[in-house]
Amino acid sequence: MPHADSSLVPEEIDTKSAFWEHVHTQLEALLDPDLNWVSNLSNTSSLVYHSLLAFPKFFGPDDSKAVNWCGFYLNAPYFPTSKSTPTPAAPAHQKLLLGPFCGKPACQFINVAPGKARGVCADAFVHRQTVLVKDVEAYPGHIACDGSTKSEIVVPILISNADGTTTPVGVLDLDCLALNGFDEDDQAGLEKIVVLLNKTCKW
Ligand code: SME
Repeated sequence: MPHADSSLVPEEIDTKSAFWEHVHTQLEALLDPDLNWVSNLSNTSSLVYHSLLAFPKFFGPDDSKAVNWCGFYLNAPYFPTSKSTPTPAAPAHQKLLLGPFCGKPACQFINVAPGKARGVCADAFVHRQTVLVKDVEAYPGHIACDGSTKSEIVVPILISNADGTTTPVGVLDLDCLALNGFDEDDQAGLEKIVVLLNKTCKW
């Protein structure tokens, strides 16, 4: 099957839980532990974005309810650089950097330093929990990369450490042109996407 066909959604799928189960199956086939995480995250953002747009019962192609952005912001020390020095052990760069995504251009970094963190991505990252925003205009500190966005969901990517703590690697962020674009079924589906990524990616 051509890679692009993995984002097709069979017509018989008509519930969100069946939709997410389908996307998880497609993603497991696409992810490859031998690839750099940049490649795995790139295909993940494309698969999720285009699958949602191919599921018109809840999302697109009706512009009024379409998902308009799906992608990743990554903790700067984990970001691949050619010869620079940041490492997870040297958290001097307290910001999230724009990673692989689908959608229009977006802000390239988000401050997560204590006292300066602001926005949905920063909150999900700092508090290490999913943030589901039904109306972005009512969310204090929301960063509007696209004035058309009405709702948003951000899922943190957390690595589990041997001592029971977690280390945040970044976040998965989705925007929607409709109010109440995402619900708890989407939250569960996206949190499972992050579990699959964590199983595959060597950050
Ligand atoms: N709205 C986000 C910023 C990222 S864009 O949605 C792509 C926030 O408040 O953190």
